[in-house]
Amino acid sequence: MNSHLYLLPALCLLLFPTMVVHASKRASWWQHAVFYEIYPRSFKDSNGDGIGDLNGITLKLDYLASLGVDAIWITPFYPSPQVDFGYDVSDFENIDPQFGTLADFDRLVAEAHKRRIRIIVDYVLNHTSDQHPFFVASRSSRTSPYRDWYIWRDGKDNGPPNNWSSSFGPTAWTLDPKTNQYYYHRFYAEQPDLNWHNPEVEKRMFQTVRFWLDRGVDGFRLDAVNYLFEDPQLRDNPVLPELRPGSKTEHLQELKYNRDLPELHEVMMRLRKFTDNYDPNRVLIGEAYVPQWEVLMQYYGPNNNELQLPFNFFLVMGKVRTSLDAAAFRSVIDDSEKALKGRWTTYVLSNHDIPRAYDRYGDGRNNDTIAKLLATMLLTLRGSPFLYYGEEIGMVTTEPKTIEDVRDPVGKRYWPANKGRDGERTPMQWDQTRHAGFTTGEPWLKVPASASERNVATAGNDPNSILNFYRSLIRLRRNSSALLDGDYVSVGDDPHIFAYRRKSSSQVMLVALNMSNEKRTFAANGRIVLSNISSRKNEVVTEQLELEAFEAVILESKPQKGTKSQKEP
Ligand code: GLC
Repeated sequence: MNSHLYLLPALCLLLFPTMVVHASKRASWWQHAVFYEIYPRSFKDSNGDGIGDLNGITLKLDYLASLGVDAIWITPFYPSPQVDFGYDVSDFENIDPQFGTLADFDRLVAEAHKRRIRIIVDYVLNHTSDQHPFFVASRSSRTSPYRDWYIWRDGKDNGPPNNWSSSFGPTAWTLDPKTNQYYYHRFYAEQPDLNWHNPEVEKRMFQTVRFWLDRGVDGFRLDAVNYLFEDPQLRDNPVLPELRPGSKTEHLQELKYNRDLPELHEVMMRLRKFTDNYDPNRVLIGEAYVPQWEVLMQYYGPNNNELQLPFNFFLVMGKVRTSLDAAAFRSVIDDSEKALKGRWTTYVLSNHDIPRAYDRYGDGRNNDTIAKLLATMLLTLRGSPFLYYGEEIGMVTTEPKTIEDVRDPVGKRYWPANKGRDGERTPMQWDQTRHAGFTTGEPWLKVPASASERNVATAGNDPNSILNFYRSLIRLRRNSSALLDGDYVSVGDDPHIFAYRRKSSSQVMLVALNMSNEKRTFAANGRIVLSNISSRKNEVVTEQLELEAFEAVILESKPQKGTKSQKEP
């Protein structure tokens, strides 16, 4: 898109102040957007080194435009020793040579904008790499001016300062022999946590936000944002009875003293003010896996003045994470709607930390139909959907077969109970050529065997492919006021069919998802606009909707005068 188009809203406000009322009612771009997550290492390699790169993403922008996505979130591409594959950043304001250069980044932004695709970058605020100059200085001596940029403490009883564990291992503390103190790391030892109690840290980290805003990014996905602060008294976390998968001795903990601490909301408010002052169209998306909705709601801020989009991970937690259970889905979504009170949310089924939805829910026989049913749900709920690369072609989680093949360090540490996250990060499958067209070199992770029949080229030619289903669905969504902006109400309490109505002033869409392996009927009226089974388009349903096993149907009707949006019996 011509970058000047971004100036239009401001210009309109100047020229047509009467439009303000109308404009303020309109949804923000990120409320209508379909987001697509790219793990750049695995998307497309343009230079044959076996690792995907920024130029590779640029090469595939036409594909992304043809899919119909509005924004891409790219996981970290900054200089990094790659212990946590980019989430250990050693320079926040540059590009790792593996991924390209700043000039490549600028070209990617310009080319994406030309195609009306926005760019979201990942920003890791919680920690740096242990190779970052801030940490190198911090660990050099107890009197370094950077010492207080990280969390250093003396040990206790010949051990670490408290019982906190890391996401990836038994302890969150590492003793640094040079100064004989421990530093805190919520993640790998190579990812020391920044000390956000120190105002210098905030000042410097906000400068980086400006650096990327100036380069034209449309928003940030804030990594692990609920871990910014720790209890200054370092109280021990309560220990839970469950063991960590893969360990016979390590117990899980309730993260009472090192997650979701109130101080972080002050930072989020200041950050929002900072980005809003720059341009209120830039969006803040936050990664916060939290146990309850009440906690997640805090991330919107008391006056909706924190994150516009705290990630809603409730579809990848609890019962609905693995089981296609209509009643459970209805209850999670109804609870979400109740908690949200009209605020906007996100929906996610897969990402680079979670095994892919295709095989989490697949029954081994109807996997493609189930994948299309899940797509229908993801793209028709009230919120912004986040797709994960490869989800649109039904890529499967492909775990490493031997410990020697494992790249994610946590998979080595807890093998075989936890094989790490390589399985959901395998290279994108483009075509039937060697290494699925991902690279001309040796791919950093093996390409799954399924790539020969499951790839973009083959799927593109098959009218019934998952890929073409996504395309139709995204097109339908884009042109539907009910799906974009309508309210949500669940319909009925069928144990096998999760159904809901989305309603705008001019359109009603009923979505009926048969989550069982049997034919079912459901009371409904309307015209079928999409089904995942056969081409039932335009079929008119008068009383009973017949659904095949795992069928997902969208029915359109006109709103009846006087219909109230409320939960149906
Ligand atoms: C987030 C990322 C994950 C990473 C961790 C530490 O959870 O999604 O991939 O390992 O933060 O940065």
